[in-house]
Amino acid sequence: PLVSGAEVVLAAAKAGRGVGAFNVIQLEHATALIAGAEQAGAPVILQISENAVKYHGALKPIGVATLAAAADAKVPVVVHLDHAMDRDLVTEAVTLGFTSVMYDASKLEYADNVAATTEVTAFCHEHGVFVEAEIGEVGGKDGVHAPGARTRPAEALAFAEATGVDALAVAVGSSHAMTERTATLDFDLITQLKDVVPVPLVLHGSSGVADADLTRAVEAGMTKVNIATHLNNVFTGVVREVLADNPKLVDTRKYLGPARDAVATEVARLLGVLRAV
Ligand code: G3H
Ligand code: ZN
Repeated sequence: PLVSGAEVVLAAAKAGRGVGAFNVIQLEHATALIAGAEQAGAPVILQISENAVKYHGALKPIGVATLAAAADAKVPVVVHLDHAMDRDLVTEAVTLGFTSVMYDASKLEYADNVAATTEVTAFCHEHGVFVEAEIGEVGGKDGVHAPGARTRPAEALAFAEATGVDALAVAVGSSHAMTERTATLDFDLITQLKDVVPVPLVLHGSSGVADADLTRAVEAGMTKVNIATHLNNVFTGVVREVLADNPKLVDTRKYLGPARDAVATEVARLLGVLRAV
């Protein structure tokens, strides 16, 4: 079923479990992620980014399809708006029935980030929607990797208290869109953040993080772990292979189906790595 972000993320934080948050671009992502979560018997977060919305030209078609898939799932599923910078998109997602939102004003100066995030948080809370925000910008979204960015614990605490957000994305050594799993996480910083920040922590750009470090990050205090590029790598790898082996193939189901199945298997495996069960 479709459930609230609070239900899944707060329970995991309390129990020291991780929660896998994986990105949906095509419908095949949504069905693959749910199938993988069902295989693992774990809850899952399906997230649609503002960039994916730009790709489709609208939130509604892929958003409604993802919500429908979530409603029929055998495990708890949160449908989350990822990296929204457009305030109107937050309103649209909440209106459609998304149960969680990330408002990303991390590019703004601290005071402006606080002001914008506070307003969005109040709006989402009026509608019972869970809110994630970011402090200390995790790089790489624009192709410029910034693994050196770090969130200061005192600033993270002040930000969480000032805005009332429910979860906080922090910069601890990862960077978005890495295709090799070679990121070096700052585990001491994760521990420090966990000790001072009163809300669950979110790791972005987790495709660049190796299995053992993902587990260690959860053990050190990360709760929501966002993985997108790595699963696209799995998906596209299968498509490439099937097309190369079958140059006459035209039915899209013949290469998207195997790719979807491979993503489901990898999601089930990752949920184990993240201690999500
Ligand atoms: O918000 C989404 C993520 O942070 C995914 O990043 O594509 O590097 O795994 P990634
Ligand atoms: Zn991200």
